Amino acid sequence: MIITLENTQKKVKLPKDAQKLMVAGLNAVAKLHGLSDETVVDVSIVDDEEIHALNREYRDVDRPTDVLSFALDEGDEPELQGGPEEHLLGDIIISAETAVRQGEEYGHGLKRELAYLAIHGCLHLLGYDHMEEADKQVMRAEEEKALAQIDLSQDDILRDMLLAAAVKARKQAYAPYSKFKVGAAVLAKDGQIFTGCNIENSSYGMTVCAERVAMWNAVSAGVTKLDTIAIVAECEGPCAPCGACRQVMEEFGVKTVIMGNTKGEFEVRTLAELLPAQFGASTMKKKSTRKRKTAAAEDKEE
Ligand code: THU
Repeated sequence: MIITLENTQKKVKLPKDAQKLMVAGLNAVAKLHGLSDETVVDVSIVDDEEIHALNREYRDVDRPTDVLSFALDEGDEPELQGGPEEHLLGDIIISAETAVRQGEEYGHGLKRELAYLAIHGCLHLLGYDHMEEADKQVMRAEEEKALAQIDLSQDDILRDMLLAAAVKARKQAYAPYSKFKVGAAVLAKDGQIFTGCNIENSSYGMTVCAERVAMWNAVSAGVTKLDTIAIVAECEGPCAPCGACRQVMEEFGVKTVIMGNTKGEFEVRTLAELLPAQFGASTMKKKSTRKRKTAAAEDKEE
């Protein structure tokens, strides 16, 4: 597939490789639908104002939207076999500003949202629709198939996803006393994401941090092998986890800590940096081995 991708808006700074991921998503759709190499799709990334104007003009809908698709050969069957001539499938217009909002809302970040919208728009060009529930299910399944083909496991995508999930979880924070709302999202080794927010109590000592709520959510779902945690609060600079939470991270194998804030700033540290010379299960194992050895030596002496 031939893809032209143009970013004409200045409101949102697109994350590095976002365009690459969108292209990967479109190519996945092309491959899954056997589209020829000559199929052309033009993608424009615009702001809310521009997509609003297009939505009003072409769909009579007076508000911005996330993605618009304009099929150029509506009514005709898309040319599925390769031919000598380029076959223009249509245009996909995506609003970067709406993508930011939706990435946060769905808790998976901007980059994944942009890839998703490109896939969604391309499926519309191929005739898929989501007006009726049955059609919607078919379209969702196609979206999932395409998303599964692209590499969403890159570090920065995971980081964005975790930060966005933490931002979303923070909205549930119960912090009437400190008014300091915290959100956390933990990525388990098996790829699942669990979230948490801080939960305070009028008996202040009963308060639990967002990080522990997220980790305990994972453990209570039977998932004890964790990998990366993200924390977000409204503060100057990135929000560091408290000592107690660092100890719980150690318990469940967290290796990486992403400390973020609501301004979008973040800093990535290893748990080893944040909790050096830590106490953990291995400390107890060493002790019990020593104990066993001493006991064995004592037995010999008798
Ligand atoms: N808090 C967290 O949620 N995580 C931390 O790592 C530090 C503190 C919460 C607890 C309390 O509700 C509020 O922030 C103020 O301490």
